[in-house]
Amino acid sequence: MADKKIIAVLGSTGSQGGGLCRAILADKTGGFACRAITRDPAKPKAADLKGKGAEVVKADIDDVASLKQAFAGAYAVYGVTNFWEHFSGEKEKTQAKNIAEAAKAAGVKHIVWSTLEDTRKLMSPGDKRMPMLQEKYRVPHFDAKAEADSYFSGLPVTLLVTSFYWDNLYLFGLAPKKGADGKHSWAMPMGKAKLAGIAAEDIGKVAYGIFKAGKEYIGKTVGIYGEALTIEQMGQAISKVLGVGAVTYNAVEADAYRGFGFPGADELGNMFQVYRDFEQQVLGARSVSVARKLNPELQSYEQFLAKNKAAALAAMG
Ligand SMILES: NC(=O)c1ccc[n+]([C@@H]2O[C@H](COP(=O)([O-])OP(=O)(O)OC[C@H]3O[C@@H](n4cnc5c(N)ncnc54)[C@H](OP(=O)(O)O)[C@@H]3O)[C@@H](O)[C@H]2O)c1
Repeated sequence: MADKKIIAVLGSTGSQGGGLCRAILADKTGGFACRAITRDPAKPKAADLKGKGAEVVKADIDDVASLKQAFAGAYAVYGVTNFWEHFSGEKEKTQAKNIAEAAKAAGVKHIVWSTLEDTRKLMSPGDKRMPMLQEKYRVPHFDAKAEADSYFSGLPVTLLVTSFYWDNLYLFGLAPKKGADGKHSWAMPMGKAKLAGIAAEDIGKVAYGIFKAGKEYIGKTVGIYGEALTIEQMGQAISKVLGVGAVTYNAVEADAYRGFGFPGADELGNMFQVYRDFEQQVLGARSVSVARKLNPELQSYEQFLAKNKAAALAAMG
């Protein structure tokens, strides 16, 4: 353990950081150790990582002094912020700034910053196809992360551009809904466009591949996805793998989706519209082959569904 390079992992009790921690811990001879950062070392997910061999350290992304302590002596940092805890682009940027400042103070040799693209660059400011949110963003959780990229300039950073988690099926309430007739339908504003998706666990595995490759990816932007499928194709895979009968795709307009009224409906409506209207640009910024090179275990959508069948079925009622 002592001679291993420490990767300090933010979001260790979550999807991305958890996937990275599990990848580090599973690779006994890889030469890396996992320092799992959480605000609550007593929570079961932190205890689970500790049981697998992680060092669990308490810190809060809102408290830069705690981050500096948590990063001290580390070789590398995985930086991820959780927009969905506060829904604020400005707060997400402040948190990213804290991560960059603490990583610089600790003198780490490699940072992987989990980011997304600036969707405002895809449309002119006067484009009326979707509203501006929080005054200045199209998709706040994309645009704020992209703005935050600049905080890491001058540091040994890899910008990891992620994609839509297939896990949203059960983590985010984005599953097809069962009607009174027992049949499933899926209301999504994606038209016939392909959604660039990935199993969240694979993001962490890709990040581990980047850390292992070291210098090769410092100063680079790496965009990843697992497979790009239309909602119709995803519905067909769900009915095939989960055995739930046909899933009817209800291709709603983005405006209608924004009006669904659940927290974040406007944000997700804008996000899906970006995936739909700018399908080629989104896919062009990401690569399956790079993802597979960094993570040879990269899953397809059907493999993901088979592996997470119980959770997916439970979410579908
Ligand atoms: N859902 C998607 O399809 C998708 C796709 C691409 C990117 N993303 C991005 O992924 C990010 C979330 O990552 P995730 O899904 O891996 O997270 P997650 O599973 O929701 O878990 C959140 C993690 O963030 C940690 N965290 C949150 N606030 C913190 C704070 N103030 N200090 C320290 N740790 C904090 C939590 O740690 P503790 O609670 O243990 O402290 C937890 O480990 C979001 O910003 C989202 O935009 C999501």
